[in-house]
Amino acid sequence: MYNTRIAGVGKFVPEKVVTNHDLEKMMDTSDEWIRERTGIEERHWLRRGEETSSTMGAKAAKIAIEKAGITPEDIDFIIFATLSPDYFFPGNGVLLQRHLGITNKEVGALDIRNQCSGFIYGLEVADQFIKTGKYKNILLVGAEFHSGGLDISTRGRGLSVLFGDGAGAVVLQPVEDNNKGVLTTHIHSDGTNAEILSATIPGMHGGYYAEDDSIFGFDDSTEHPFVLLTQKMMDDNMIFPYMDGQAVFKTAVRKFPEVIIEGLKTAGLTTKDVKLVIPHQANLRISQFVQKILRLTDDQMFNNIQKYGNTTAASIPIALSEVLEQGLLEDGDVLVLAAFGSGFTWGSAVIRW
Ligand code: ACO
Repeated sequence: MYNTRIAGVGKFVPEKVVTNHDLEKMMDTSDEWIRERTGIEERHWLRRGEETSSTMGAKAAKIAIEKAGITPEDIDFIIFATLSPDYFFPGNGVLLQRHLGITNKEVGALDIRNQCSGFIYGLEVADQFIKTGKYKNILLVGAEFHSGGLDISTRGRGLSVLFGDGAGAVVLQPVEDNNKGVLTTHIHSDGTNAEILSATIPGMHGGYYAEDDSIFGFDDSTEHPFVLLTQKMMDDNMIFPYMDGQAVFKTAVRKFPEVIIEGLKTAGLTTKDVKLVIPHQANLRISQFVQKILRLTDDQMFNNIQKYGNTTAASIPIALSEVLEQGLLEDGDVLVLAAFGSGFTWGSAVIRW
């Protein structure tokens, strides 16, 4: 059995920076409110028509491939995690394959739909394939084009100020040393309150989560059997994501520490052995809570949400890329990745660098 090592990392974020003060001009919000509740100072948003999640993913992937010292033709499996794919179907995996020009090789391309936990879910899947020796170069990408799907009027301010666009990618390879690379991964989910953080339209369910107590609203004004998207849904402005922010916050600050401890215990380690935790960049306040519960020092917790906002599946690989740029990891250091998000889904990975 092999272990999985991260052989190359890349990131891409759009050029355009949107500060909290820029948002003040679009909606009734303030720099102070956003900083205080989320820690976010600015985020990158795509210009219309500039890129998509698959093209940003390809840009990050090219860097990761180069850093791993291989070529796109060496990739033998693709995993793409996103909640903002280019199309309803097919998924971004095959689009990424096309952007990288490796269509002649007919490698498998898997799409992951686990939102903020997408990168950890993808890492666990990849780890199984690498362990058994099935694949030697897996490309795992997380990318999000959030800005195109947010309500940037005052009505949507509870959500739209949080999210940013970007992509991150890693190349995963086998390593024979069983004390190196990915030591443990754990993934979990609980769909009891799946709609607490959701975008239910467009979808084949044909209903939407309503902010009042009615749970689901339906548009029964149409005879059409496939209610992906109707004019009424558009008119009612129901096409944007919904979030019960406080419910997300309360669950996140429980699940992050739980799954980090679970991973460390399985690896026979404690928080004292950890050089760095890279949490999914959901909200600086969530990360600070988690840090406090786990009694981690400031140096042990990496945060860059201040510059990027929440980039969902892309946040961990973007952060990892920055960690390496800043030289924060040395050979043998213990790195913990952890995520929590819509579903709810959550997970962790313990890695010896
Ligand atoms: N600017 C100014 N005022 C705002 C804004 C805004 N952007 N958004 C909401 N408000 C107002 C509300 O309208 C409300 O006003 P009211 O009291 O007059 O009704 C007031 O601020 C308080 O609103 P709440 O939603 O109760 O604010 P809360 O203190 O819960 O903070 C927040 C909202 C920051 C979203 C918080 O709930 C939170 O951090 N939740 C965690 C959710 C999260 O991080 N999600 C990320 C995605 S999921 C993930 O990645 C895990």
